[in-house]
Amino acid sequence: MAPYESHQLRRGKYARLDAPTDDDLEPTPTRFSSESNATLEDLEEHDPLAFDSKLKRKKSAGDLKVRKASFKDAEAAAAIPYARRKKFTPGRCCCWLLTFVAATVLLLAAGGIWAYKVSVPVDGRSPPWYPAPKGGADPAWEESYKKAAELVKQMTLVEKVNITTGTGWSMEMCVGNNGAVPRLKFPQLCLQDGPLGIRFADNITAFPAGITVGATWNKELMYQRGKAHGKEARLKGVNVLLGPAMGPLGRLPAGGRNWEGFGSDPVLQGIAAAQTIKGIQEEGVMATAKHWVGNEQEHFRQAREWGIPNAISSNIDDRALHEIYAWPFADSVKAGVVSVMCSYNQVNSSYACANSKLLNGVLKDELGFQGFVQSDWLAQRSGVASALAGLDMTMPGDGLRWSNGDSLWGARLTQAVLNGSVPIDRVDDMVTRVVASWYQVGQDKWSNEGPNFSSWTNDEVGKLHEGSPSDKTTGVVNKFVNAQGDHKDIVRKVAAEGTVLVKNEDNVLPLSRKGHKDGSKSKRQTKFRVCVFGEDARLPYDGINKCPDQSCNDGTLASGWGSGAVDFPYLVEPMSAIRAAFDKENVYITDWLKNKLPKQKEIVEDQDLCIVFVNSDAGEGYLKWADVRGDRNDLSIQKDGNQLVKDVAKGCGKGKGDVVVVVHTVGTVNLEEFIDIPNVKAVLIANLPGQESGNAIVDVLFGDVNPSGRLPYTIAKKEEDFGPDSKVKYLPSPSDGLAPQQNFSEGLYIDYRHFDKQDIAPRYEFGFGLSYTQFKLSSLLIRSKHGKSPLPSARPSGIAPPTYPTDLPDPKSALFPKDFHKVGKYIYPYLESTDGTSFTAPEPVPQSPLSEAGGGPGGNPDLYTTILTVSASVTNTGPVDGATVVQLYISFPQGYKDPETGEAVDFPVRVLRGFEKVFVEAGKQEHGNGGGRELVTFDVTRKDLSYWDVKRQNWVMPTEGEFGISVGFSSRDLPLQGTW
Ligand code: BGC
Ligand code: BGC
Repeated sequence: MAPYESHQLRRGKYARLDAPTDDDLEPTPTRFSSESNATLEDLEEHDPLAFDSKLKRKKSAGDLKVRKASFKDAEAAAAIPYARRKKFTPGRCCCWLLTFVAATVLLLAAGGIWAYKVSVPVDGRSPPWYPAPKGGADPAWEESYKKAAELVKQMTLVEKVNITTGTGWSMEMCVGNNGAVPRLKFPQLCLQDGPLGIRFADNITAFPAGITVGATWNKELMYQRGKAHGKEARLKGVNVLLGPAMGPLGRLPAGGRNWEGFGSDPVLQGIAAAQTIKGIQEEGVMATAKHWVGNEQEHFRQAREWGIPNAISSNIDDRALHEIYAWPFADSVKAGVVSVMCSYNQVNSSYACANSKLLNGVLKDELGFQGFVQSDWLAQRSGVASALAGLDMTMPGDGLRWSNGDSLWGARLTQAVLNGSVPIDRVDDMVTRVVASWYQVGQDKWSNEGPNFSSWTNDEVGKLHEGSPSDKTTGVVNKFVNAQGDHKDIVRKVAAEGTVLVKNEDNVLPLSRKGHKDGSKSKRQTKFRVCVFGEDARLPYDGINKCPDQSCNDGTLASGWGSGAVDFPYLVEPMSAIRAAFDKENVYITDWLKNKLPKQKEIVEDQDLCIVFVNSDAGEGYLKWADVRGDRNDLSIQKDGNQLVKDVAKGCGKGKGDVVVVVHTVGTVNLEEFIDIPNVKAVLIANLPGQESGNAIVDVLFGDVNPSGRLPYTIAKKEEDFGPDSKVKYLPSPSDGLAPQQNFSEGLYIDYRHFDKQDIAPRYEFGFGLSYTQFKLSSLLIRSKHGKSPLPSARPSGIAPPTYPTDLPDPKSALFPKDFHKVGKYIYPYLESTDGTSFTAPEPVPQSPLSEAGGGPGGNPDLYTTILTVSASVTNTGPVDGATVVQLYISFPQGYKDPETGEAVDFPVRVLRGFEKVFVEAGKQEHGNGGGRELVTFDVTRKDLSYWDVKRQNWVMPTEGEFGISVGFSSRDLPLQGTW
């Protein structure tokens, strides 16, 4: 049976009919105005949810329903600040009191001992933004929307709902699968992780992680990796890839999932994400920009996972949101991404997947996003509220609990449309967005055979509905299609270019395959002796895919863990690659692949060269390794790696041997325990290289690839240097109220921006990395194409989105068809009965003002107008060919005051605004024409030269004072300086 038929024809759990009650009471402070002195009437006016007549009606529902509802009501109450609740009328107050008591009991039972203390979130709440903007306003999507509208207008209500809702965790082959419309040949979509390869699949490539890709600073490789990943998805029958990740952005150095993204800077993240998206979507696969937004740590990221009833609230101010966290998403939308995944956490006390300001306002209106918003897995915490706030697809479909088959949408969305809680045009828009996205990447041309692998078994034959307790149907689920092509070459290139050389005293690197370098005197007449040390140089003892989603640190570290990890098809460990690389005639190579040296000293004392491998691992919060619960506990090298390096350095050649340290890591690490030891001559930060790890490190160690990786984060001398706000919140604070609060109080000052502002010397700065050659910059040229002007031109209006008739079908038409075969727990759009479907017209919702910063993909098109070009020449003055990364940083006028308001505007010392990796041949003299020097040019846009003005709600370019323009090789090595 084709997968889409199966969804249409089967049925899930008993559908509760009081559904919208939960939704109406859902804790989304979007229902409140942000003004603290708003009256109840104001709130009613702004709130399309909280005060509708159905709310009262459902309150008097039958016993069982009330009991069921009150649990969720309790949750709802939990997130509504006390100050607000005081304003309710006595009758309602009673109800709230009861639910509050229930909530408290539940919370305490859930271990949320801190929760009894109710407080108002520090950063205020998220303002409302309604109604959801309709997709189809962007000319670049016109054709796709036309075709989509043709299809959607033929769909029935249940068919539409089917598209919006997942079928339930592990009910089909992929980690996410929505419903199909077989009648109109719209297939079920397979959504699969993740950012570094095809999760839960065979015959695929384990690519280097995002952080390694970021460290290449190579746009072409970013694109190539995306394209290869997209191609594999296509060959495996994946419609929607759940990547790239650009949030977490890297605010917290120890954040567990930073490695899935590209580095701790919005411009680096944005460019890498856009390149990846282009690559993926050119292969006809839908890309997903995730996680929107503020999911900067794993602790408390999701309700229940951490024994808490509500997820953490990332409290982000509007300017930091725009200039830091939303920035790469804007670039992704501009690159045409068709899907965005909203995150688990709350933002300013409103769940990201029901935050109308973020979804309707920022993403869809201001950034002009035309695709569909899908929830992270169980990040949807409300039904009606999330629909109205702009969520378009719920994943994996299950409701408030994992695998419960009890969706917040599915039948409940059908019911909510019929009874007027969700306007039909909202569902039409959800579906049109999904179908238009499908056309936009050309999936209408696919043969639609569905995925040819199963996420749940490696056997050829397996269950068709793994998650169903009742359905045991089996079939061929794995066809073992080899999707790898020659992608290992890209893996190796990215891994080598994503390796950052941070120390290289006496040019100890590159190594010579013969051991002693030409001209250097051999220390003895025997062979050159090399020993490789450390667990991180070997394969894991129990197989490369032993731990679920790579959730352990054994052997060489080539990936972090979690949904972003894949099964390795193979893994080239450093030891065997290094052994193979040396010339055995001249070199004697041995190893000690443990992190503790043996008692016998020979293994270390007898060496000319010691290569030590150490690492630091982290991952996603649903899994832990040792005491690392997703987020790292500190920035140390793990598993006594520091001691190993120190012991080896002490013993190597009796203290006279050279030591090379290779660090595989999920992100920034502390190197202080060994970095200054004199015979630790070279240190390489190899990030997370993927399956070609050993080959890639050999390429760099021996100089086959001249290192050109640059740090995508700062390496500090001590963790505290990242600033007081840079710590993961490991424990809730007593003042948190009902959900852990995380205030992004540092605003714009993360990573290098903080170090620069506080004038702290890092160990190695953002953007830093060495080469085996030297480069020089000269001839800075700044050319104005336009003068300064504060605001972008007026927002263009765009084209008209499709419209549909708004009459509702007879509720009976939404009932389960007669004799319908239901698969236990499967999520269906059909109703059990017509109860609760009588229609009450919703109050009209006032239109929130459209953003002047909007009007095109990624925002107002004028924001992307080139205002300046900056160019410079780069010369290779050293002995060998190589690539370098030329970086452009902009300093906004310091001491700037807004001429209109007279208010001072604070700016970081400098911000990255562009980079180019350029390959330059060694000196012209030896190479004749063409070698030695290259020209680099940057286009600097209006957005690059603007800050987000919270009052004007627009990007504003300072027109007074001078911009500093710096071009260089890192955030602190900026030899070319100019002004504009
Ligand atoms: C992760 C997402 C992932 C999803 C599906 C979630 O827990 O946060 O990044 O795409 O699971 O596996
Ligand atoms: C799933 C992941 C998901 C996580 C969320 C796991 O069981 O495999 O895909 O990200 O749960 O908590």
